[in-house]
Amino acid sequence: MKMLVTGGAGFIGANFVYYELKHHPEDQIVVVDDLTYAGNLETLVVAMKHAQFKFVKADIADRAAMDALFAAEKFDTVVNFAAESHVDRSIENPEIFLRTNIMGTQVLLDASRKYQVGRYHQVSTDEVYGDLPLDRPELFFTEETHIHTSSPYSASKASADLLVQAYHRTFKLPITISRCSNNYGPFHFPEKLIPLMISRALADQQLPVYGKGENVRDWLYVEDHCSAIDLIIRNGRVGEVYNIGGHNERTNLEVVKTILRELGKPESLIHYVTDRPGHDMRYAIDPAKISGELGWTPATRFDDGIKKTIQWYLDNRFWWEHIINGEYQNYYAQMYNQR
Ligand code: NAD
Ligand code: DAU
Repeated sequence: MKMLVTGGAGFIGANFVYYELKHHPEDQIVVVDDLTYAGNLETLVVAMKHAQFKFVKADIADRAAMDALFAAEKFDTVVNFAAESHVDRSIENPEIFLRTNIMGTQVLLDASRKYQVGRYHQVSTDEVYGDLPLDRPELFFTEETHIHTSSPYSASKASADLLVQAYHRTFKLPITISRCSNNYGPFHFPEKLIPLMISRALADQQLPVYGKGENVRDWLYVEDHCSAIDLIIRNGRVGEVYNIGGHNERTNLEVVKTILRELGKPESLIHYVTDRPGHDMRYAIDPAKISGELGWTPATRFDDGIKKTIQWYLDNRFWWEHIINGEYQNYYAQMYNQR
């Protein structure tokens, strides 16, 4: 199989590249990533040693670049991770979210159609379902839950999902969509809750908790997300949406306190700050469809995954320190300027 992985220099895309290289070493992988602030080529250093792997710096919304790439490479499968992914940034500046997440998806759909890709997979999010109330723990997001978005980020992801479904219905493009809950694990950019709290706690800095810290997220270890996408692209039914989540609900305060406990740091570092506007209260996935149809189950419980993740950040300080001091953005020039 020859696979295009967009956004492969980001958190989940890179973990997916390593998952595929390990479990399907016969497949060829081309990563396209525009190396925005969230893309880090240092993350792909090990992948770049594989003969089956290739990196291309390009913008998924650049129609001419995508057309040339698809014409040259003849992909069997496209997995679209590339996106602006941070809710807080979408509140500050929605426009780039619409360009990348909606227009970029449309460009990829057009190229997939023109060059007859065998499977187009859209990596979506549980945020398209909006949120659940805290006092109804029996409620979960299923694939039938209505789309009901809160932030410019989730609205842009929902718009992309609708386009993907339209290309299936109208043009018979063979698509699948996955909607996953919050991921955590190696290579998570230190603007998101868990890596931000780990890196700041290690520096004895205040930990900014929005509102009262009572919002609930359903955490999934990133490798379990990768195994689910791998199953969907190989065995999932064309035209279907699959929810991905592992019943690991925690309040933000519980997560932050767990990190402090594991690092031996005091709870006095917690600093309550003004809440995120439109802040979703609770996400919780019902994964019955993917478990029943494809036999997927998550391998990592939150209590184990958070320990592994903290250890990874302790063992790979250079990775996140390069992000905080900005050095990672020089890496592309170092690697490619002479070529
Ligand atoms: P990320 O922000 O870490 O990575 C995004 C990657 O996309 C970066 O490498 C960036 O350089 C690249 N990119 C951005 N704009 C681009 C463009 N125009 N052209 C080419 N590349 C571009 O994001 P992530 O957390 O790894 O999320 C990946 C996907 O998974 C996103 O689609 C996101 O919506 C979805 N998702 C994320 C989570 C989560 O918890 N992080 C959960 C469910 C779904
Ligand atoms: O559910 C899937 C989504 O999970 C993905 O689609 C998004 O791309 C991903 O960023 C994530 O969105 P969240 O908004 O849930 O993640 P974030 O890490 O930004 O925040 C998690 C929770 O922690 C949320 O309730 C806000 C809170 N928070 C976050 C930050 C960065 C804080 O309290 N303080 C913070 O400093």
